[in-house]
Order: sequence, then structure tokens, then C-alpha cells
Amino acid sequence: MKFFLDTANLDEIRKGAKWGIVDGVTTNPSLIAKEGRPIEEHIREICDIVNGDISAEVVSTVAAEMVQEGRKLSRIHKNVVVKCPLTRDGIMATSTLSKEGIRVNVTLCFTAGQALIAAKAGAYIISPFVGRLDDIGYTGMDLIRGITQIYKNYGFKTQVLAASLRSPTHVIDSALAGAHIGTMPFKVMDMLFNHPLTDKGLEQFLKDWGKVFQETPVAG
Ligand code: E4P
Repeated sequence: MKFFLDTANLDEIRKGAKWGIVDGVTTNPSLIAKEGRPIEEHIREICDIVNGDISAEVVSTVAAEMVQEGRKLSRIHKNVVVKCPLTRDGIMATSTLSKEGIRVNVTLCFTAGQALIAAKAGAYIISPFVGRLDDIGYTGMDLIRGITQIYKNYGFKTQVLAASLRSPTHVIDSALAGAHIGTMPFKVMDMLFNHPLTDKGLEQFLKDWGKVFQETPVAG
């Protein structure tokens, strides 16, 4: 499963990129607005940090305008994936942009039926939101399982990007469900490293080593 960072914060993206496990970045209008900079220059900077798919979302709501905006976003960098919402206009725009060879991530997906529509429109990625379904009392992960199964049944090439992941368990369950990509906040990626037995084990290894060799190995 590919790991994407779900943030527009450059410090977090730089920190994550240093780990060597970040395959891409997803942004949305809320995340870009939080950084307070024009989207073009901000997305360009993200593309300079991470060499992978970088999602940038349109803010128009009318298909023809989404198409114009999508074309403009796609010209920022070859790695930009245009994000369109799962509305009728968003799907029309997805269909047009996909036919032009522009890769589209269809976002705000909450049902398997919506995911089928996105795949039929030629979406490169579908983004089902797990956490936001959990928030309203559903089991968001069922959606990931359903979509991966349906896409498999029909050989759709659209990649399933498990979005709105809020915990390491969400990431693991998405991988078990066969999601192609998991996008997560920096904090969740950071938490994936942790286990008390790893810390305890390392402490013991270094203590044992030190008792015999009286020195700790030189890092890096
Ligand atoms: C993904 O592309 C979305 O921007 C994101 O995962 C939404 O997550 P949230 O529901 O935690 O805001």
C-alpha cells in the first residue's frame, strides 16, 4: 500500500519525506487555506519535496469551470493529480479531464455506488472517507472493503485511496481491505512507528552491548 501524507504543511511534509516512506501527498481546500498561501506556489513547493502523486483540489462547483481549474492545476507540475468532488458536475469534469489524460482523484466518496460512478468516469483515484463515516455512526472501513471488491469484480483500474484515516488501526485495516493507498495526517504516520517493546528491546540490546564493549556504536 502506498503511504500519502494528508497535509499541506511543508514542515510536516519535509519531516515525513525524510523517513523515505512517503509516496505522495493529498491536500484539500481546508488544508491549503490553513497554510494561507496561493495554491499554485504551495503545490509547486510540495512537488519539490515529494516525488509522487500530489493531489490539488478544484474549488469551482460548475463542471466547465472545474475543467478550466483542473487544467490549470495540472500544469503546475507533472505529478499533480486534480481532485474533483463527487457531485454531478464533479463527475462531468472528471470524465472530460480524464479523456484529456489529466489524472483525477474523485473526493468526498461515501458509498460504493458513488465509487462505481467515479470509476466509470475514468477516475485515476477514488477517495472514500473512512473517519467521517465513523463520525456519524457507520463503519467507514466497510466502504473500503466494498469498493475494493467491486473494482476487483470488474477490473476497474481506479485506485482506492483510503482517506480520512484517523489512527494506525485505520491504516492497518485499510491495508487488510486491499486499499491501494492510505492517506493520513503526519501524526498518524508518526504513531505507526511506535511500540513499547521496540523501545524496551533496543534499550536492552544497547545495555548488553555496552557491558561488554564499553561503548555504543556510532550512529549514521
Ligand atoms: C483526503 O484527501 C481528505 O482531504 C482527508 O483525508 C479528509 O480527512 P478528515 O476527514 O480527517 O478531514
